[in-house]
Amino acid sequence: MMRAQAWPARDDSPKLSFAPMRDEHLDEVADVEGTLYDFPWSRLNFADSLAAGYCCRVLWQDGALAAYAVMMCVLDEAHLLNISVVRGRQRHGLGRCMLDHLVHEARGYGAERMFLEVRPSNVAARAMYDRAGFSPIGRRPGYYPAADGREDAIVMSAELDGWWAR
Ligand SMILES: CC(C)(COP(=O)(O)OP(=O)(O)OC[C@H]1O[C@@H](n2cnc3c(N)ncnc32)[C@H](O)[C@@H]1OP(=O)(O)O)[C@@H](O)C(=O)NCCC(=O)NCCS
Repeated sequence: MMRAQAWPARDDSPKLSFAPMRDEHLDEVADVEGTLYDFPWSRLNFADSLAAGYCCRVLWQDGALAAYAVMMCVLDEAHLLNISVVRGRQRHGLGRCMLDHLVHEARGYGAERMFLEVRPSNVAARAMYDRAGFSPIGRRPGYYPAADGREDAIVMSAELDGWWAR
């Protein structure tokens, strides 16, 4: 069955809205980031992404920040740099909803495929990417900091053509 673009999350509340991330969101985004990752992006990382003109988006649910993402588009490639859902709102389809939204935006920039890196230990993210049709295409040894040293990154990619049929 064909998927609709930016399919509404499987959630009782339909009040979802995407918006460009702006400076005024950075404190809250950075606060949430600190609750989700052992090695979070800093507020400056997000500010730099905005300044660089990356595609930075927030997802509001009933007026509250529910998710955010950062993506870089270059020529026909989109690079997903950050996708995060507020912890108490996870497992309700918002991650996939944001991913679908980013694909929609990436297509608008002319992207034909999307790349990302993920920690092997990140079970939730890997499951989401697998389910969305991403395939592993390589490994970057010691890419991420980790509590006991470094952790590899799995590099994944997906062709965006046919995304909505997945
Ligand atoms: C990864 C993340 C964005 C997923 O967001 P989410 O809103 O919880 O995910 P969704 O509810 O949209 O789930 C989409 C699919 O991912 C998979 N999934 C998500 N969380 C999962 C978990 N904890 N365990 C197993 N599978 C999971 C499922 O296959 C799910 O599809 P299904 O419900 O139809 O089976 C979220 O867990 C998160 O923000 N994690 C912290 C930040 C992070 O690690 N970001 C990714 C960095 S690479």
